[in-house]
Amino acid sequence: MIRSVVRGVGAETPRRIMRNEDFVGLVDTSDEWITQRTGIRQRHIASDDETTASLGEAAARKALAAAGLTPADIDLIVLATSTPNNTFPATAVEIQKHLGMEHGFAFDVQAVCTGFVYALTTADLYLRGGKAKRALVIGSETFSRILDWTDRTTCVLFGDGAGAVVLEAQEGEGGVADRGILTSSLRSDGSHKEKLFVDGGPSTSGTVGKLRMEGKEVFKHAVAMITDVVEAALGDAGVTAEGIDWFVPHQANKRIIDASARKLGIAEEKVVITVDRHGNTSAASVPLALATAVADGRIKQGDLVLLEAMGGGFTWGAALVRW
Ligand code: UT7
Repeated sequence: MIRSVVRGVGAETPRRIMRNEDFVGLVDTSDEWITQRTGIRQRHIASDDETTASLGEAAARKALAAAGLTPADIDLIVLATSTPNNTFPATAVEIQKHLGMEHGFAFDVQAVCTGFVYALTTADLYLRGGKAKRALVIGSETFSRILDWTDRTTCVLFGDGAGAVVLEAQEGEGGVADRGILTSSLRSDGSHKEKLFVDGGPSTSGTVGKLRMEGKEVFKHAVAMITDVVEAALGDAGVTAEGIDWFVPHQANKRIIDASARKLGIAEEKVVITVDRHGNTSAASVPLALATAVADGRIKQGDLVLLEAMGGGFTWGAALVRW
């Protein structure tokens, strides 16, 4: 059976770093509040010349280099983003052009913070269905552009960045020992829209809008939704939480990550945390964390890696990958 195997991973963050202390004077907050409530210490913020397309392209080029491949080897790009360069065309197509690709096809997937898990699942299905041989799956966001910088309950939480993986269709045996994406589980429920949304859009206000969130309400649902999809994915693959080598969760809040890991029975030392340095980068958070743990030598070939995310919609999802 065909498996979508990760050949390489890459990441890119904007040049500018904004530390918690830098918010003092902008809004009524403190380093102590942000650190204690979220685990965030700093985030990267895009400058005018840095966009979702440019960050995504840079991450994609690094993933290709890690895979020992070139854009000529890729025939599909799936970009997860909620902050596209333009309403249309898809930012994935812009990245395709910047990579010099005149072949294959590219499109965006929009599932907010769960975007990367949705994009990975989508690319996996194209590869396993024989519609493509190698895919770039990118999560890239510039949430700083949709933040209300006067709202302390949201502006301190988010950051900008991009991460990417190269997937390749390879023959597997069909068991959990195979390399590649073993399974994934996706969910959504639109009844929670008002808890996390952007108050604008082409078909309503005709504006881009700003992010609005009832943080406490999102928090209330997060752990249950995360553990629900993770347990579905583990059950589908026939593996237990103890069998996981690395847990790479969406990086929104360290308290949510800790509570989810505890509820799932995943040991603390297996949890990859990058929220301290990146903040919540929405669809970029999981691939940024993956790139971090691969670069520092934690995630190695053959390891069983569990990914999960939860966000606006609500959307939530998990994927199990043998590296
Ligand atoms: O990625 C998509 C999913 N998003 C998430 O997962 C976010 C989920 N939610 C959260 O992470 C947390 O709910 C927050 C970090 C957003 C908030 O933490 P909390 O412990 O739920 O705090 P809270 O909303 O209950 O606020 C506690 C207090 C409030 O003041 P009062 O009403 O107790 O006087 C807030 O006004 O903290 C106040 N507050 C702040 N104080 C200083 C809110 N934001 C700030 C701030 N600085 N930046």
